Amino acid sequence: MNHKKRLIVANWKMKLSNRESINLAEEIVDRFAGMYLNERNIEMIICPSHISLAEVGKIVDRSPIKLGVQNIFYHNTGSYTGQISPAVAHELGAEYAIIGHSEFRKYGKDTNEDVHQKIKAALDNELVPIVCVGETFDEYHDKKTEVIIIDQVTKALEDIKLKENQRIVIAYEPVWVIGSGQAIRHNIVEYIIQIIIHTTIDLDQSFADKFQVIYGGSVDEKNINDFIIGNILTGVIVGNNSLKVDSFMKIVQNIKL
Ligand code: PGA
Repeated sequence: MNHKKRLIVANWKMKLSNRESINLAEEIVDRFAGMYLNERNIEMIICPSHISLAEVGKIVDRSPIKLGVQNIFYHNTGSYTGQISPAVAHELGAEYAIIGHSEFRKYGKDTNEDVHQKIKAALDNELVPIVCVGETFDEYHDKKTEVIIIDQVTKALEDIKLKENQRIVIAYEPVWVIGSGQAIRHNIVEYIIQIIIHTTIDLDQSFADKFQVIYGGSVDEKNINDFIIGNILTGVIVGNNSLKVDSFMKIVQNIKL
């Protein structure tokens, strides 16, 4: 696999007001300006809540930082009250779309089929899908992690054909680790990442140089380097620790490349 960038995805979920989102985006743009993200091979992606996407988009537009949307629908326009158009997300400057986050699988009732349709819609709208997969605590406890991961990855990517300039990010996020403050042991993550890589390449050899795998779940300044492993594991999603500029900066500062 030929991966150029380490992805650091800030997932702000629904945790900030519009004013707080604007302030945090401005602080991040100011404070990260001197961190040589491009030179350090880091792509930082800020995913604010939908309501603040446009405003945060205008702020990060002045910087190398990219904008991501936390969810999309699989149609661009139509009678779909309450949905998020991927075309409009792109129009507002988003370059990435989180798809199938466990919180949206739970509260938005996203199925594996929805996730599949949303990946296609993202690709059609020049959004790089960040596809989240992961097992719940019960599934982990019942030793079903491998089966769940293979099933989610297969159903997400089956029949997807990537054009020359398209790519996909797969995020392994053990559901029970998210927000717990206690990340999973990195040797377990490495094992699951290998399963994701093999499943993806088994589906279609041509994915090989067009996808990358990242990790999410209680990433912090101390454990960040456990989850950046050569060309195998090439980035993280950060939830809680991306909500304050200091904790987020420390994570990025501590990345050894
Ligand atoms: P966390 O969230 O870093 O707070 O565990 C990660 C995520 O949900 O993407």
